[in-house]
Amino acid sequence: MAEQTIDITSMPRGGPHASCLDRLLRTDRLEYLDRDDADDPDLARRKRSVIRALDWTGQVFGNHGRFAAIALDAVADVADPKILELGAGHGGLSRLLLDWHPTAQVTVTDVDADSVEAIAAGELGSHRRAQIRRIDATAIDAPDGSFDLAVFALSFHHLGPDAAAQVIAEGTRVAHILLIIDLPRPPAPLHLLRLATMLPWAPLVPFVHDGVISSLRAYSPSALRALARHAGPDIDVELRGGCLGPQIMVARRIGS
Ligand SMILES: C[S@@+](CC[C@H](N)C(=O)[O-])C[C@H]1O[C@@H](n2cnc3c(N)ncnc32)[C@H](O)[C@@H]1O
Repeated sequence: MAEQTIDITSMPRGGPHASCLDRLLRTDRLEYLDRDDADDPDLARRKRSVIRALDWTGQVFGNHGRFAAIALDAVADVADPKILELGAGHGGLSRLLLDWHPTAQVTVTDVDADSVEAIAAGELGSHRRAQIRRIDATAIDAPDGSFDLAVFALSFHHLGPDAAAQVIAEGTRVAHILLIIDLPRPPAPLHLLRLATMLPWAPLVPFVHDGVISSLRAYSPSALRALARHAGPDIDVELRGGCLGPQIMVARRIGS
């Protein structure tokens, strides 16, 4: 049977066959992390607060460790792996990759100049196996095959479908394996319940504000597959997890 062509630009985050309820669980509102309005004097503080909370929850609830274990497992058969972290935010995942692997070289990046500056000013800035750079995941300034692994954690939902597909194309161009770890998109009734518990706190706590928007913008497994197909016919994907815990997508170019 011929494969159906999907217009990804208008594809709902729940995928081409999302239910009516799932299609309603969407927003065009931006997270604080995505905003750049110069006329909001409090924006920089809110952004730092979200980034600090992400690092803190990653340490306390173990996501940094879980993500580092998945990333190192993906390069277990490479002696001295070269790893690119995209959208690093605070650099917590890269810190663990360097701590846990004695010879890995890690390029720690984000598109946000303030985050890159803060990471460079911290302990990663002077780590001899770390390089800190500002990189946009949709247009990675690196030659083909420069890395064994590129990892993009809890960031993919920030991008609209066209930019998201571009990250898959770019990540699989510069790295042999692209690992995307992102929020799950639960079945719609469960999703609604979860949003209802978060919403009262959203106006008060910047981390919850961004969490609600992130949840509404998370891609479903079928949406991830459609994005990968759009990114390139030679891109193979494997999906794991993702009902309530993080979903994991491993993408690579066939034959690379
Ligand atoms: C929710 S934070 C995740 C931070 C960290 N990876 C974590 O797991 O906690 C999302 C990050 O993605 C970054 N980001 C958004 N769009 C990006 C892009 N096009 N390229 C690279 N990073 C991007 C943001 O600047 C932000 O630091």
